Amino acid sequence: MVKLAVLPGDGIGPEIIEQALCVLEVIKDKYDFTYTTQTGLLGGAAIDATGEPFPEETKELVLQSDAVLLGAVGGPKWDQLPGEKRPEKGLLGIRKALNLYANLRPVKCWPQLIQQSPLKNEKLAGVDLIVVRELIGGAYFGKRGQEAILGGIKAYDTIEYSTPEIARIAKVAFSLAGKRRKIVTSVDKANVLDTSRLWRKTVEEIAKDYPEINLNHLYVDNCAMQLCLNPAQFDIIVTENMFGDILSDQASVLGGSLGMLPSASIGEGPALYEPAHGSAPDIAGQDKANPLATILSVAMMLRISFNRGEAALAIEKAVSNVLDQGLRTGDIWSPGTQLVGTRAMGEAVRKELRKITNN
Ligand code: NAD
Ligand code: IPM
Ligand code: MN
Repeated sequence: MVKLAVLPGDGIGPEIIEQALCVLEVIKDKYDFTYTTQTGLLGGAAIDATGEPFPEETKELVLQSDAVLLGAVGGPKWDQLPGEKRPEKGLLGIRKALNLYANLRPVKCWPQLIQQSPLKNEKLAGVDLIVVRELIGGAYFGKRGQEAILGGIKAYDTIEYSTPEIARIAKVAFSLAGKRRKIVTSVDKANVLDTSRLWRKTVEEIAKDYPEINLNHLYVDNCAMQLCLNPAQFDIIVTENMFGDILSDQASVLGGSLGMLPSASIGEGPALYEPAHGSAPDIAGQDKANPLATILSVAMMLRISFNRGEAALAIEKAVSNVLDQGLRTGDIWSPGTQLVGTRAMGEAVRKELRKITNN
């Protein structure tokens, strides 16, 4: 029996998680995927209940689970708290506690959503890439601080990377590329940063073990531009924590919307699945959020953690069918399509999934 830890979090988190769990219920019935769920507190919800963004109880829950399903954390209510006490610190804490060094964010162009893209349609044909983001290093976890100086305050965050940290994420990128189009684009700022120079050198070392892979390097500023200019060139983009954060939000638009971008965060133990977006406080509690990124994260969980590729494909097919029917949440709506809410979108996916699995 699979043990799932479920952390709805804040803002739209509980709304999208509810829909994802209902979809998983259909899988349970049809694919004999038996699991139990235990819900825990993370982020602002945890701060309100316990004073801590990542309480000890949640840490124990996730460490004992087989996988974690997470909504999103954060919101204006907690924005004035000191860094160590913010909801986001809970997310960083869980990533560190589970050693989730590899964050996979697959962006593919949904043909049904091509019309509503800000890019010209011909640029989007063939877009199918994965951002492989290093998740527990870099500026997010380096030495930081604040001190008084003459005339004001100085704050600093430092970026640190070691060769083992770079090597292990590079291996993830190369082995993924081996199952795909065999292109790895390593993104850095090696013209300026020492950490990037070490990154580039280490990635090149690792590349020697993967002679079938075509490795190229881009500076992050150029990569941001290339993502708009010629996104179909990319297969695997591997990069450090903060560059990956920024580039993956940017790349999500190629797939239709940030609300469509799932993610998997992987280490050696239980993996964590969450949409790439945040808690969207501007639309929270209004039944407006797109639940598809979270539903697609469940598909990633079934495929990666539980080797249930068939069930994952069924979910992805159900999502595609719902898009074919013209149902859209606000973030992917365009004239001529039907605006629906979070719950109706989740229900439509379940209905399709039942149809698919009965065949
Ligand atoms: P955000 O991703 O929450 O929202 C950015 C924009 O995208 C907003 O206009 C929002 O309405 C829209 N959006 C996001 N997800 C959507 C969805 N599923 N359906 C429809 N529209 C969607 O980013 P933000 O506004 O910069 O941050 C809000 C809060 O979320 C902050 O506290 C931030 O720290 C947090 N955050 C958390 C995570 C996470 O938990 N993994 C990720 C990013 C941001
Ligand atoms: C994400 C988010 C987080 C990050 C924040 C909320 C800490 O933006 O998951 O992409 O920067 O990693
Ligand atoms: Mn982000």
